[in-house]
Amino acid sequence: MCGIVGYVGSEQAAPILLEGLSKLEYRGYDSAGVAVYDGETGRLTVRKSKGRLKVLSDMLDGGASVAGRIGVGHTRWATHGAPSDVNSHPQLSRSGRIAVVHNGIIENYAELKAYLQEQGIPFTSETDTEVVAQLIEHFYEGDLLQAVGRCLRRIEGAYALGIVCADAPDEIVAVRKDSPLILGYGEGCSFLASDVTAILRHTRRVSYLDDGEAAVLTRDGIQCYNHLMQPIEKEICHVDWEVDAAEKGGYEHFMFKEIMEQPEALRRCVLPRIRNGEVVLEDFRLDGEYLRSVRKLYIIACGSSYHVGMLGKYSLERILRLPVEVSLASEFRYMDPIVDEGTLAIVISQSGETLDTLAAMREAKRLGAKTLSIVNVVGSSIARESDQVIYTWAGPEIAVATTKAFTTQLAVVTLLGLYLARRLGTMEETEYKSVLEELLALPEKMEAVLANRDGLQYYASQYFNHDSVFFIGRNIDYAMGMEGSLKLKEISYIHSEAYASGELKHGTISLIEDGTLVVALCTYHKLFDKAMSNIVEVKARGGDVLALTTEGKREELGKTANGVFAIPEAHPLLLPCLGTVPLQLFAYYVALMRGCDIDKPRNLAKSVTVE
Ligand code: F6R
Repeated sequence: MCGIVGYVGSEQAAPILLEGLSKLEYRGYDSAGVAVYDGETGRLTVRKSKGRLKVLSDMLDGGASVAGRIGVGHTRWATHGAPSDVNSHPQLSRSGRIAVVHNGIIENYAELKAYLQEQGIPFTSETDTEVVAQLIEHFYEGDLLQAVGRCLRRIEGAYALGIVCADAPDEIVAVRKDSPLILGYGEGCSFLASDVTAILRHTRRVSYLDDGEAAVLTRDGIQCYNHLMQPIEKEICHVDWEVDAAEKGGYEHFMFKEIMEQPEALRRCVLPRIRNGEVVLEDFRLDGEYLRSVRKLYIIACGSSYHVGMLGKYSLERILRLPVEVSLASEFRYMDPIVDEGTLAIVISQSGETLDTLAAMREAKRLGAKTLSIVNVVGSSIARESDQVIYTWAGPEIAVATTKAFTTQLAVVTLLGLYLARRLGTMEETEYKSVLEELLALPEKMEAVLANRDGLQYYASQYFNHDSVFFIGRNIDYAMGMEGSLKLKEISYIHSEAYASGELKHGTISLIEDGTLVVALCTYHKLFDKAMSNIVEVKARGGDVLALTTEGKREELGKTANGVFAIPEAHPLLLPCLGTVPLQLFAYYVALMRGCDIDKPRNLAKSVTVE
């Protein structure tokens, strides 16, 4: 995690760095800092502080109190060493002439630190990053890039680094391995950042550093180098995300804004991909012969993206009649999975940078699978390394808790299912047409759900002070419950668990007592009666039931449940996309009433680039 940013140009650097960091705070927010070099005085000033970026920004008077036209900045999610002023980045070398910001983990830092200490080099922080600053200085003989190159040969782990040096006052050196780093090309200025949103105000011309590559940024341009430090040319891409998309635009929270943006995000994701009654996936490179040879799909993801995978298993098995396994990326990496040339690995990641997912994808490739990724962030590592990428086109998602990326991932899974079904001939024409029609109608139905949100606000006001909540459901309702439960716990800090309803009686039901809140999901008509039986069991033990169902079942459920929220009727393949929205809103309103920091929940970060 952590966010890094760098600027070199003719403007004052500190305000630009602070503004860039404000867009990266979602990546980590326990401390922040900047290092700025002032050509007039020849001084490298480092200012950093524990706490939110605002603390730093106030300390620097919005950047006005630090002069200089070149610098790097950092917002931290602590790994090595607790959040503190001294452990904040930038980290300095012994002489104070080299400053480093880092996103990632240097795995062999202890060994390197011991080596440097033996050479008499003192350390001030507990961070792995200080080792990098010290090592670069240790190797420095007048050429910063060369010193960085020597340092890279010694360090192991994941890193995106931004480095400034008082002895090379016109340049920033940037390098990356397994952590994201973007280069921005401005007029008379250059940028680096962990994420494009940090530099979108200044430039839309970017390139993506690949693993092992380095770059030297000056105000006149950027020169990139391969792992042997030979100059290379990088392709410059144009980013077409709207600047406003990364702003709150009048909403109190990014999460609420992003929930409300879902119909639009779905339109962006789905409409261009349906033409003349067919799903069209442009640049789809996996040919028919290969697709017919696929014997198994393996979905790999983390967190909410994993829940999309769970839902995808139900839909893809139904559409394609192929076995679908779903695995948490962090488990997949170490479980000796049964994967071979007959496996298509579907890798789902909003950020496209989740380290576990990236590593699992590489493992799947190594074992012979082809990889297809479903990603939101264009140009991210997973997108670039997979054999095939399908973008969700949800636009930037800033709130840590995912919403619009989740529902667009679901839409892409459905589009993919339909596309493959057509190629493999596994779906009846009428079913295919009806799902397509429903997909097109989805944004409007979602608007209807959002328009009804007052009901959810009311339920949140009734239950926001509960300590524990259970989500139950069967089949797609179970997987949806997992996402509802995660949303609630991550932003409201209420303990919550999701259970397959049928499992209740195998243990969990002992936790149900007078007033326990159970959110019962029963959108899937096929299993409605079974879901009802479980609701009755919960009620009989004194539990309060909030039920989620479709319009047609509202009345029936209303006779038993304490509260009902209904979504429009939809094809079962599309119900999860609609049904997740009330769960997002419920979590949001509960967290709001509990006074939680909704966009930046404690201990979490959006892009998890550590193992
Ligand atoms: C929860 C959430 C996380 C992410 C997970 C994977 O709201 O956002 O659980 O889904 O960290 O992230 P990506 O999708 O970027 O790989």
